[in-house]
Amino acid sequence: MKIIIADNYIHLSEIAAGIITKTIIEKPDAVLGLATGTSPIGTYKKLIDFYENGLVSFKNVHTVNLDEYVGLNEKHAQSYHYFMHDIFFDHIDIKQKNIHIPCGLGDDLEKNCREYNEILLKHPRDIQLLGIGSNGHIGFNEPSTPFKSFTHIVELTERTRHDNSRLFGFGDSVPKQAITMGIVSICHAKKILILASGAGKADAVYNMVQGDVTEECPASILQLHNDAVLVVDKEAASKLDESAISQSD
Ligand code: F6R
Repeated sequence: MKIIIADNYIHLSEIAAGIITKTIIEKPDAVLGLATGTSPIGTYKKLIDFYENGLVSFKNVHTVNLDEYVGLNEKHAQSYHYFMHDIFFDHIDIKQKNIHIPCGLGDDLEKNCREYNEILLKHPRDIQLLGIGSNGHIGFNEPSTPFKSFTHIVELTERTRHDNSRLFGFGDSVPKQAITMGIVSICHAKKILILASGAGKADAVYNMVQGDVTEECPASILQLHNDAVLVVDKEAASKLDESAISQSD
């Protein structure tokens, strides 16, 4: 895994947006795997900035998102559909038909999973953007998720529900389930770009980079990917050994 230490969150976001922009310039119809959460917000802002300044266009780009809560419709302010449009898609020239986000609605969620797997097969990703949960999750693949998983429904852990509760207003509780891309699908991306910022991620970053490759830390599978890039600020990198940083290629 290649490790890039950023001075702060703004710097981290600039580096990540630069890597994504390079992917699109080299391949204007690139498929981007995208994430929600706080980690990529600065990256999306920077990409919008690049778009507004004519440095990149998304008109032939396709996107596939990692996950969505079960039971929230796309107008719900905490749904990942809403987040992606509000933070990113509504500000760039992407075609609506090129946007794919898993659907957590309806009576047959297993069918939704199968349909999303089909979409992923048709859209092999050039780059997959990821955040990491404080328990090492990627997408909503919580600890103990089999490495061999495809799109599936998950029961969210109390820790994840607690971490995500800051985004939910009074009276709105964090859903108990989500639909997520599986680990196999995540690892199929040609390049993986993981972002981690803040001291609260330091243990997860350590376990991902220097811990055993184990289903107890889903992100640890990324040690085996041949083009994974971690962009991390100093706080989130604070538990990494110097040797792990200098040995990263
Ligand atoms: C989001 C996602 C999650 C987040 C992770 C980190 O689509 O799949 O794995 O990336 O929970 O969230 P933040 O960035 O809010 O700390």
